[in-house]
Amino acid sequence: ANARRFFVGGNWKMNYSQAILEKVNDALGKTKDAEADIVCAPPALFIKDFVSSKPSHVQVAAQNCYHAKEGAFTGEISPEMLKEAGCTWVILGHSERRTLFNEDDEFLKKKIDYVLNKTDINVIACIGETLQERESGKTNEVVERQVKAYQEKIANNQYDRIVIAYEPVWAIGTGKVATPQQAQEVHDHLRKFIEKNTNGDIAKKVRIIYGGSVTGASCKELAQQADIDGFLVGGASLKPEFEQICKARQ
Ligand code: G3P
Repeated sequence: ANARRFFVGGNWKMNYSQAILEKVNDALGKTKDAEADIVCAPPALFIKDFVSSKPSHVQVAAQNCYHAKEGAFTGEISPEMLKEAGCTWVILGHSERRTLFNEDDEFLKKKIDYVLNKTDINVIACIGETLQERESGKTNEVVERQVKAYQEKIANNQYDRIVIAYEPVWAIGTGKVATPQQAQEVHDHLRKFIEKNTNGDIAKKVRIIYGGSVTGASCKELAQQADIDGFLVGGASLKPEFEQICKARQ
């Protein structure tokens, strides 16, 4: 494979119960020797419950944040608050936030800029094309535009704080996982695009993970692709099979 450390994120989205917490902690308890960075993102309200119950090798992410420390921003949460609660990562630009909450590249630029330059929190930066965009041959154009927006705010020495999550919208929550070839093709393209905008060393080191209906059954073959460095997992991150996904490279 390659020298990049495998990375597995669990995005719980708006799901939480005591039973879920216990089930996930059970699965995570069996991942101590997984050769991967494992990062779970519970709903903000329950971050502290997870922080105080998770195994110590697991890191914690928020699913979103605002680009200010404090103030009159009703309903928002600052990266500083997330850090205080125990988060070391934040997910930005998830397709559900782009689609349902109208977050666009301009808005996301402000967020990534703030997180990278005002805090030491790391970023899982999401991108991905819709089915319509794929079918009209625009996949590369769309993901390039989305990555470029983030890149405008990422300094060359900050790429070790970034994980790019390629999540084709048509594969999210649909049970329709991208084929390993489809995913690899985009990841390879993204790595070359990043190289063009930075340099070969950064492109070789930056982690690009795949998200969209990843399961225990589909993770192994995806994980063998040259440019797939891990996963961002929704539904299956709440199930026992998350253990297998964390160990997909082994
Ligand atoms: O962020 C993870 C995601 O959007 C994928 O969700 O449920 O298809 O694994 P899911």
